[in-house]
Amino acid sequence: MTPPNGTGPVVLEARGIVKELGGNTVLNHVDLTLAKGDLKVLIGPSGSGKSTLLQCLNLLHIPEDGQLLLDGTPVNFKKKTDLYQLRQKVGMIFQDFNLFDHLSARQNVAIALKKVKKQAKKQAHDRACEELARVGLSNKMELYPAQLSGGQKQRVSIARALAMDPEVLLLDEPTSALDPELISEVLVVIRDLAKAGMTMLMATHQISFSAGLAHEFVFMENGRITEQGVPSVLLAENSGSRTRDFCAKISELTGAEA
Ligand SMILES: Nc1ncnc2c1ncn2[C@@H]1O[C@H](COP(=O)(O)OP(=O)(O)OP(=O)(O)O)[C@@H](O)[C@H]1O
Ligand SMILES: [Mg+2]
Repeated sequence: MTPPNGTGPVVLEARGIVKELGGNTVLNHVDLTLAKGDLKVLIGPSGSGKSTLLQCLNLLHIPEDGQLLLDGTPVNFKKKTDLYQLRQKVGMIFQDFNLFDHLSARQNVAIALKKVKKQAKKQAHDRACEELARVGLSNKMELYPAQLSGGQKQRVSIARALAMDPEVLLLDEPTSALDPELISEVLVVIRDLAKAGMTMLMATHQISFSAGLAHEFVFMENGRITEQGVPSVLLAENSGSRTRDFCAKISELTGAEA
């Protein structure tokens, strides 16, 4: 049974986000709210704007219009201190891990603690070890990305994000670059984070996994959120929802059940 969402205070809110890229309106007045402990899952066709939305939510892309509120306070897109603060509080996990190849797993986690949080070497080292242990990598800490599997690399990148004590984690297709047999080790970490109450927004094609865990599915099409609701309701046989059609097609392709 999925716990109720929206019971906590709102952590991150997007209002009327507009983003233009290459002369096209890629996000067209998107509103989204994440309450503490929410796990919302973004789904939708390729090119619908999922990655762009995630990148706007931690201001890797600056929206042309709209507002972001963090813990109820509007973020000033033009103020560097606001951008840095938001990026510290809103962590991001990418499909392709984004690790530094010349640093070990431990150093990949520790570097942000030293550079961004200004932690001393020993403190950063200890925290890196702790976070790597949390994602099951205690025995891989001194290995470099080239010596790690895709699933292990993604777990390092999750450990790195967690070390920053984020209020929200954004995950952009965290398992889609992984071989099928490595997907579950990353999903287990995400499930444990959800159960521990981490606030998350994740774009993914892992429909069955998400349906069992997410508080809400958020369906995007052509730069807009067109459907949003509890997975069991949207996926119900008689729902007639676009989400159900879409998920059924993905499940047909992957051989999984929606
Ligand atoms: N840097 C860019 N310049 C121009 N257009 C871009 C740029 N980045 C993305 N787009 C366009 O914005 C639209 C949304 O892209 P986005 O990557 O957000 O989609 P998505 O839903 O994440 O797709 P996918 O499921 O394939 O990851 C697409 O039409 C894409 O071509
Ligand atoms: Mg994408």
